[in-house]
Amino acid sequence: DLKKFAVDGERALATYDPGFVNTASCKSAITFIDGDKGILEYRGYPIEQLAENSTFLEVAYLLLNGELPTEDQLATWVDRVTNHTYVHENLKTFMQGFRYDAHPMSMLMSSVAALSSFYPEANQIHDPEVVDLQIIRMIAKMPTLGAFAYRHAQGKPYIYPSNDLSYTANFMSMLWKMSEPVYQADERLVRAMEVLFILHADHEQNASANAVRSIGSTQVDPYSAIAGGIGALYGPLHGGANEAVLKMLRRIGDVANVPDFIEGVKAGNERLMGFGHRVYKNYDPRAKIIKKAVDDVFEVTGVNPQLKIAQELEKIALEDDYFVSRKLYPNVDFYSGLLYEALQFPPEMFTVLFAIGRTPGWLAQWKELINDPEQKIARPKQIYTGHRGRDFVPMDKR
Ligand code: ACO
Repeated sequence: DLKKFAVDGERALATYDPGFVNTASCKSAITFIDGDKGILEYRGYPIEQLAENSTFLEVAYLLLNGELPTEDQLATWVDRVTNHTYVHENLKTFMQGFRYDAHPMSMLMSSVAALSSFYPEANQIHDPEVVDLQIIRMIAKMPTLGAFAYRHAQGKPYIYPSNDLSYTANFMSMLWKMSEPVYQADERLVRAMEVLFILHADHEQNASANAVRSIGSTQVDPYSAIAGGIGALYGPLHGGANEAVLKMLRRIGDVANVPDFIEGVKAGNERLMGFGHRVYKNYDPRAKIIKKAVDDVFEVTGVNPQLKIAQELEKIALEDDYFVSRKLYPNVDFYSGLLYEALQFPPEMFTVLFAIGRTPGWLAQWKELINDPEQKIARPKQIYTGHRGRDFVPMDKR
């Protein structure tokens, strides 16, 4: 009975929808999801085809511009992004000021926010050329900032970009280049990383995209809006599930312990991490693609004992009525943590990788928002449950 929440002068009826589970906050033409059928499309193209045939920057172009680029358009786009990978030396100094044990995600969030002070013109969000340049800068600098944050945690000097490498190979070089003048990661690992970026590039109105839109609706510059999105992603309910999967696999310890663990999950003792999704009530299409990437990576790095545990968990769960009847299938996080670990990333970096991949999606959502004449400042209603009209109580009477 919402009428009882009516306040004088306000409309009597409002929708009480915590977490906006059933409220559309915008119209969008970027990403389509059908959770029952397990479909994910960027601008109408199935994720499977993009992961098979595209590069990450091609997908970024598609998300931001609505169409796949021609050869010339792609070459110009890649060239422009490549020319903006460096960050101002003062930003490097800013990052060096963090504690030695600073969380890389916290460093990333702060440095992206700091970018707004380096590019004050970024607040001209109605000038398409200015907007375009900030988008390029943001996509180009994310791997540099992510790699600096990683090197910081290791106590190693930051490595500058190598612009003769591809976007993803350059990121890996900034992470792992030691003293040798050129570092080039194995092509299969570069492609696996690239595919992971593509899979994470957008997922319509998730918590971080919603944060970017909410902040962007005030017409602030994009760096401030994206920094807010990174903040939302930092939370364990959004970006942290793959780390929880790894911890679970370590705890199970051996394939022989899998049946007992599954019985514990069915008894309600705990959840099978990496299974189930609010939207997907079918196999998460991204999980299928990651499974394939897992094979390629383990071919290079050697099989990790936890992979066998994960495979056994999946095999048993997919045949068990508890999981089948609740439509619980592996989600994107079930295998991604294993992959990141095989690529030698510490768990704190997992969300940073997610953020780099998600940046084109956040920017596409932001660009769509600022060009949408129907959008208003995000300002949900509340249902007030507190006191009214009280008289101030002097200190000596409380
Ligand atoms: N293991 C065991 N049982 C589960 C699991 C799971 N992973 N997920 C849901 N269930 C059960 C619930 O206990 C419930 O059973 P009941 O009807 O007998 O009470 C039923 O399935 C429905 O669960 P809800 O919590 O209502 O489903 P919801 O859609 O709200 O939750 C969520 C989705 C949070 C992802 C959930 O499946 C979960 O906790 N999964 C594990 C964590 C995880 O992998 N998160 C990553 C999601 S992907 C991403 O964010 C990028």
